Amino acid sequence: MDTLTGFTRTNYCGDLRIADAGKTVSVCGWVQRQRDLGGLIFVDLRDRTGLVQLSFGDNTDREIFEKAVSLRAEYVVAAVGVVRERESKSKKIATGDIEIEVTELRLLAKAETPPFEIVENSNAGDVLRLKYRYLDLRRPEMQRMIALRHRIVKICRDYYDEQGFLEIETPMLTKSTPEGARDYLVPSRVHPGKFYALPQSPQQYKQLLMLSGFDRYFQIARCFRDEDLRADRQPEFTQIDLEMSFVNEDDVLTCQEGFLKRVFKEILDVDVPAPFQRMPWREAMDRFGSDKPDLRFGFELKDISDLVKDCGFAVFSDAVKAGGSVRLINVDGHAADFPRKKIDKLQEYVKTYRAKGLAWTRLHENNITSSYAKFLTEDEQKAILERAGAKDGDLVLIVADPKDEVVFASLGALRCECARQLNILDPKDFRFLWVVEFPMFEWSEEEGRYQAMHHPFTAPMVEDQDKILTDKAHCRARAYDIVLNGTELGGGSIRINTPEMQEKAFEALGIGEADIQERFGHLVNAFKFGAPPHGGLAYGLDRLVMLMAGTESIRDVIAFPKVQNASDLMMACPDVVDQKQLDDLSIAVTRMEAPEE
Ligand code: AMO
Ligand code: AMP
Repeated sequence: MDTLTGFTRTNYCGDLRIADAGKTVSVCGWVQRQRDLGGLIFVDLRDRTGLVQLSFGDNTDREIFEKAVSLRAEYVVAAVGVVRERESKSKKIATGDIEIEVTELRLLAKAETPPFEIVENSNAGDVLRLKYRYLDLRRPEMQRMIALRHRIVKICRDYYDEQGFLEIETPMLTKSTPEGARDYLVPSRVHPGKFYALPQSPQQYKQLLMLSGFDRYFQIARCFRDEDLRADRQPEFTQIDLEMSFVNEDDVLTCQEGFLKRVFKEILDVDVPAPFQRMPWREAMDRFGSDKPDLRFGFELKDISDLVKDCGFAVFSDAVKAGGSVRLINVDGHAADFPRKKIDKLQEYVKTYRAKGLAWTRLHENNITSSYAKFLTEDEQKAILERAGAKDGDLVLIVADPKDEVVFASLGALRCECARQLNILDPKDFRFLWVVEFPMFEWSEEEGRYQAMHHPFTAPMVEDQDKILTDKAHCRARAYDIVLNGTELGGGSIRINTPEMQEKAFEALGIGEADIQERFGHLVNAFKFGAPPHGGLAYGLDRLVMLMAGTESIRDVIAFPKVQNASDLMMACPDVVDQKQLDDLSIAVTRMEAPEE
C-alpha cells in the first residue's frame, strides 16, 4: 500500500471548476465508481465536498494505468494530475466540466464491498444503515446534515458570545434532577451502593451559576433521559442551554428571537418576522388542542358542549355531564378528499389517542351526510354546523369524551393528521410561536397528586402567587415554550429566586422538608445567600437542526444515534460487562435480557 509521504493535497474534489483547467492539482478520497473502457479508465473520486472525475488513457504511465485497473468502489486513493476541460460534460455534478488527467496515483487503502452503495437517497434499510453508520455517514446527504449541525452550533456560539454569555461546562456525573424522566445511573466504585445520575439537563447548575454572579451562561449540553423514544426523542440528546440574570420574560424571549432570526437567515436565507406571536397555553389548547400548535393551517377546534349537553345522543350529552366536553374541527374545503373509507381510517387514528369514536358530517355536492344525524334534532344539527362555520365542501369531525384531555389530544393530533394527508404542510414555511402562561401544576393520575408542569424552580405568575397553595388548578407559571411548526423546540421559565417562595412551591408539590434537603438541599441552601432574579431556556439542538434540515427524524442529524429500544446498533450496546467490573462496583445482576436470536 502507498503512503502520503511527499504528497500534499491542493484541492478538495468537489471544488474544481473550468477556471482550474491547466493547473496541476492533487486530490484525495474514496472511489465512487471505476469505469474501465479498455484503453480508457474513468474513476469518480469522492470526498466530503463532492465528486471529480479522474481519467487514465494513452498518455498515462503504464504502471499507473495498471493501478487504476485494480481500483474498486470505496478504495482510498490520492492522485496528482492536470485539470482538463472534459469532452463530454456532465450536468449532474458540479465538477462536470472538467476531469483530472492523472500523472501520479497512490493506493492508500483497499475496501471490501460495502453492505450498501454509498449514494444519495440510499434505499438501504434503517437497521443496516445504523449498524454500518460509519458508511452511512459517507453518503452526501448525511455529510450535509452533520455539516449543517456544525454551522448552526457555530452561529449559536458566536451569537451568545456577542450577547455576553459565557460558555461554562457542568458535570456529567451528578445527582438526580427533576425534569420528570427516568435517570440514567452510574454506579460509584468508591461509594458502594451509591450512584451518580447523568444530567437530564444542567438546570440546577445553571441556576447556581447565576447565584455565583456569572450573569449570563450558555452551554451546548449533553442531556440524558431514560424515556420512550419517538421520532423527535433520543435518550441522549443535546441542548442549547442558557440562563440570564436580572431579566424578565421579555428580556429572555427577545434574546432568543435574535438568535433564531440570525440562524434562519444565515443558514436558510429565511427572514423570520420578530417579535414572534405569543399565545397563552389556555388559548393554544382551546384553539389547537395542543401546547405546541402548528400554525401553518387552520382546522381549529370549537367547543360544542353547550349545544349538545341535553341532546338525545348519549355519547355527546354524557360526556358533557361527566365533566368532559364535545369539540369539533372543520376540515374546510376538503370533504372531497375524505370519502367514507378515509374517514373510517381517521376513526382508527383518533382511537390511538384514547378517543372512543369519531362523529362526522360531510357536506359534499350539496348533500349532507352525518354519522350522528339520527340521534339529534334538526335544530341541534344545524346549530353544530353553524358553530363549525360549515359550508358545502367541508368535513366536520367531532370527538366527545368525559375527559377533556382526551378530546384535546385526539382532535389536536387529528387536525395535524388531516393536514399531513392533504399534503398542505410546507416545510419551508416557518411559523414560530411562544406559548406562555403555562399552568404551574398538572394533575398526575398515576401519582394522585399535583406535579410541576415545568420543574419545581419555575416562578408563579405575579398575579397568581396567592393561588400557589390555595388554587393549584388555576395557578399559572412564568414559563414559556418556543414552538415551530408543531414541534416544541425549547422551553424555559423565570425562576424562583427566594427561599420563601421556593419553600412554598415545594409545599404545594407535597415535597416534605426531609425530601427537600435530600434532593434539593444544595439549591435551597444556596438561595439563602442571595440569588438574583433569573430565567433561561433550553433548546433541543437536535430538533432545531432536524427542522432546519427538513428531515423528520432527529436520528438523521445525530452522527451516532440510538434506535427505538435505546440501543446503539453499531457499537452493539448496552452490553454485558465482566464479573470483575461488577464486583468492583459491588453490583449483583438479578435479571438478564435473553440473548438475541
Ligand atoms: P425541557 O425538559 O423542556 O426543559 O427540555 C428542553 C428542550 O429539550 C428538548 N428535548 C429533547 N430532545 C430530544 N430528545 C429528548 N429526549 C428530549 N427531551 C427534551 C426539547 C425541549 O424543548 N432545564 C429545562 C430548560 C429550562 O427551564 O431552562 C429543560 O430541560 O426540544
Ligand atoms: P354508533 O351509534 O356507535 O354507530 O355511533 C354513531 C357515531 O358516533 C359514529 O360515527 C361513532 O364513531 C361516533 N362516536 C362514538 N363514540 C364517540 C365519541 N366518544 N366521540 C365522538 N363520536 C363518537
